Amino acid sequence: MNEIKLFSPATVANVSCGFDVLGFCLDSVGDEMVIRKTSNKGIKIIKIEGYDLPYEVNKNVAGVSAMAMYKAANPDFGFEIEIYKKIKPGSGVGSSSASAAGSVYGMNVLLGSPYSPLELTAFAIKGEAVASQSEHADNIAPAIYGGFTLVKSLDPLEILQIPTPEDLFAVVIHPQIEIKTSDARKILPKDIPLKNAITQWSNVGSLIHGLHTNDYELISRSLVDVVVEPFRSQLIPGFESIKKAALEHGALSTGISGSGPSVFSLCKSQKTAIKVEKAVRQAYAKYTIPFDIYVSKINMEGIKKLN
Ligand code: HSE
Repeated sequence: MNEIKLFSPATVANVSCGFDVLGFCLDSVGDEMVIRKTSNKGIKIIKIEGYDLPYEVNKNVAGVSAMAMYKAANPDFGFEIEIYKKIKPGSGVGSSSASAAGSVYGMNVLLGSPYSPLELTAFAIKGEAVASQSEHADNIAPAIYGGFTLVKSLDPLEILQIPTPEDLFAVVIHPQIEIKTSDARKILPKDIPLKNAITQWSNVGSLIHGLHTNDYELISRSLVDVVVEPFRSQLIPGFESIKKAALEHGALSTGISGSGPSVFSLCKSQKTAIKVEKAVRQAYAKYTIPFDIYVSKINMEGIKKLN
């Protein structure tokens, strides 16, 4: 095999209470990429469509992660990369992670799959760090593994796959403003009150228990963020209106997707998700900011081959 075309999905990081550790994978949005073997050694990005991103390998997240793997594998051939970017950079649904994970996933297949999902995650983190100026894997892990993931630790890297209740659906609204992850990280306090820390780790624990036991009511009560949301929600015009509309129409919870501006709601059943989508769409229409909104199943597969 000399070429692979793949779908690299959008993801929701943090999932309210799990800043930098929790994430889940979306189904309906993602980038497409083509990775091809070349006789010339090295990595080359030959096409980028959709958004204006750097072609220089050391400045492009897909290039940086690809280079990390390339140096480790040291093959006697090279790779060229085409990126068909559908996830808007700075939208809060793992745009940079999709690119960083996509290049290494594709190269791994063309190399005969020598690397495990954990090793792919480690290479992809190097690319993601270029975009957010910090190493975290809460978007990359769900893109690679699918479903819900927990980053148990970065050093040594350990990822846990968390069961996903079958009837869980996400509604994601993306107000068309850009929030850079690096900026959204700078506004966070370095220290948090012990009282908030206790609430937060109790919520992470009970959320994981709720996901294991299909307890939607517990999931709903656990998806509360007292650490990050109070600061970052101020960067998202209409955040409280979105939350109110979603909760009034049956959402289990609503929170900021990654570093925003996208906002996600989790719902039990597709029917409720469709109702929530309609309510949030109506509530946001009164703001002058254009937006996209979609309902997505939780994607259990993660990145996948298209051809
Ligand atoms: N955990 C990261 C953050 C996700 O919220 O800053 C965005 O890359």
